[in-house]
Amino acid sequence: MCLLMPDHETYPPYPDSRTCHVGTYRRVLPVSVERMYENALDWEHLPHVHAASFKAIERIDAGSWGWRAETTSARGDRSIIELRLDRACRRWITRTLKGANAGSEIWTHAFPIEARRVDIVVDFFVPGVAESARKKVGEAFAALYQSLYDEDVAMMTERQRRLDARIESHAEQERIALGSRADLALPMQIEFAGRPFVVAEIEGALYAYSAWCPHQMGPLYAAIPEGRLVTCPWHGYQFNVADGSCVSGQSCQLPAPPDVVQDSAGQVFVDFSSR
Ligand code: FES
Ligand SMILES: [Fe+2]
Repeated sequence: MCLLMPDHETYPPYPDSRTCHVGTYRRVLPVSVERMYENALDWEHLPHVHAASFKAIERIDAGSWGWRAETTSARGDRSIIELRLDRACRRWITRTLKGANAGSEIWTHAFPIEARRVDIVVDFFVPGVAESARKKVGEAFAALYQSLYDEDVAMMTERQRRLDARIESHAEQERIALGSRADLALPMQIEFAGRPFVVAEIEGALYAYSAWCPHQMGPLYAAIPEGRLVTCPWHGYQFNVADGSCVSGQSCQLPAPPDVVQDSAGQVFVDFSSR
C-alpha cells in the first residue's frame, strides 16, 4: 500500500508516443477492482450519473468484452465510442471511433492496493495535437476525468454499501405502526422485514415501494415521483409504484411492497400480511 500517494495527480505528456500522449490522470479510489470493472462495462449510466457530460447514449453492441455505443454529449456532439475491457491486464481502453476526437484513446489501468482500494492510471492519447498544446489538452481531459470519477465513486460506494447490507431477512415482521397520518412527514424511508421501502403519498393515496432499484440497487428513494412513476437516477429505468411494473421496457420489476393502510383514527400501518 502506498501511504504517500495523494488522492489524485496529473502528469505531463510523454513526448515520444506515436499517438500523442497528452497526459495522465492518477487517483486512488475507495472501491474494489470488481466495482471498477462493473462501472466500466456499465454504458447505461453515462447520461444519468454523468448528465453534465452526456445527454444520451444508444447501445450498438455490448457484452462481457465491453461495449460500443453512439453517445451524444451535453453540447449535442455525437460520437461512436467503444470500450474494451481486458481483465487479464487489469485495464480497459476507450476509443472514439467517430465524431469529435475520433482516433483518441483513453487507457485506464486499475491496480488493486487493498480489497477496496484501487489505484487508477488513466492515459490520454489524442492524435494530431501539436506538441505545444498537449499539456493543455491533457489537463482538460484530467479535469473531465476528475469530475467523472467523483460521480462514479459516489455510485460505486453506494452500490457496495447496499451489496454489503443485502442480507436476506427472515424476520417474521408483518405489520408496523408508523404513527398518526397528520404527523407523518412524507415521503419517508422505512425498513420493513429487513428491506428498505419509501412510503409516499401519491395522488391522494399512500404507497410503499422499494427504496432500492431492482436493476443494480440504485437509489430509488432519491427519485421524486412524477405521478405514480419513479425514475432511477443511475440508469433511468422507470417504475410504476402502484403495480411495480417497469414502464421503460426493461425486464425487471419492483419487489412486492407492503400495503400502507390508515385506520379510522388516522393511524398509519405498513402491512405485509396480504403478500
Ligand atoms: S440501478 Fe440501474 S436503473 Fe436503477
Ligand atoms: Fe461513469
